[in-house]
Amino acid sequence: MKILVTGGAGFIGGNFVHYMVNKYPEDKIVNLDLLTYAGNLETCKPVEGKSNYKFIKGDIADREFIFKLFEEEKFDIVVNFAAESHVDRSITNPDIFVKTNVLGTTTLMDAAKKFGVKRYHQVSTDEVYGDLPLDRPDLFFTEDTPLHTSSPYSSSKASADLFVLAYYRTFGLPITISRCSNNYGPYHFPEKLIPLMISRALADESLPVYGNGENVRDWLHVEDHCAAIDLIIRNGRVGEVYNVGGHNERTNLEVVQTILRALNKPESLIEYVTDRPGHDRRYAIDPTKLETELGWKPKYNFDTGIQQTIEWYLNNKEWWQNILSGEYQQYFEKQYGKK
Ligand code: NAD
Ligand code: DAU
Repeated sequence: MKILVTGGAGFIGGNFVHYMVNKYPEDKIVNLDLLTYAGNLETCKPVEGKSNYKFIKGDIADREFIFKLFEEEKFDIVVNFAAESHVDRSITNPDIFVKTNVLGTTTLMDAAKKFGVKRYHQVSTDEVYGDLPLDRPDLFFTEDTPLHTSSPYSSSKASADLFVLAYYRTFGLPITISRCSNNYGPYHFPEKLIPLMISRALADESLPVYGNGENVRDWLHVEDHCAAIDLIIRNGRVGEVYNVGGHNERTNLEVVQTILRALNKPESLIEYVTDRPGHDRRYAIDPTKLETELGWKPKYNFDTGIQQTIEWYLNNKEWWQNILSGEYQQYFEKQYGKK
């Protein structure tokens, strides 16, 4: 099978490429990524040179390029991770979120429709459901929870989801959608909470906690997300949405305190800063459908996963220090010349 993975130089897409290239040597994995600020080919180093892996630089919203690529490559499956993914950036510059997340998605689906792709999988997010109140721990997002977004980022992801469902109903495109909670693990770009706090704590820099730190996120190790998507593209029912999450809710303050304890750093590094506008209070996924229908079970809980993640950041300082210094952006030029 030939599988197109978009956004495979990013955090989750990169982990998914590793997972698939190693697990399915008989399949061909094509990684298409525009290498925006969030794309880092150093993430793909472990699979470079493997015979079932290929990297292509390009924009999912570039219609002419995408149609030519699909015509040439004849993909069986498309898994779309490519996106602008950072909520804070969507507040300062919403436009690119509409272009990549919405137009990029419809462009890929138009090509998938024209060239007979057997499965188009959209990697979505729990943020499409909006947020839950902090004083109702009994409430969870199910696949039937209405879409109710807060940020330009989540609005662009919800728009994309609606287009994906419309392409199923109107054109019969064989789609699936996964909506996952917050991921963490290796190769996470250090603008997001966990890698930002690890890298700053190691440098004894202040740790900016938005508002009072009481907002809750439901953390899932990235490897468990990859395993869920693999199950959905192989065994999931066409036209269906699957929530992905492992019941690991923590307040942001608890997450930061856990990191400080593990690194033996003082809590005096914590600095409460101005809150994110429209800041979602709590996310919490009900993964019953994925567990009962497809037999998915996470390998990590937050306590084991965060220790593994911190160790990874300690053992791979070069990876994230190259990001902080900007050096990673020269990697494509160095590795691929003008290709
Ligand atoms: P990321 O920002 O780390 O990576 C995104 C990747 O997409 C980058 O490599 C970037 O270069 C690439 N990209 C951006 N625009 C592109 C374009 N126009 N064409 C081709 N490539 C482009 O993001 P991530 O955290 O790995 O998230 C991946 C996907 O998973 C996103 O769709 C996101 O909405 C979703 N998601 C993320 C989380 C999370 O916690 N990070 C949770 C649930 C769902
Ligand atoms: O829930 C899934 C979503 O999780 C994905 O769809 C997004 O792509 C991904 O970025 C993530 O969104 P969040 O906004 O939850 O992640 P972020 O790491 O930006 O922030 C996590 C929490 O930490 C959030 O409540 C805001 C807070 N925060 C974040 C940063 C960067 C801080 O307190 N300080 C910070 O410096």
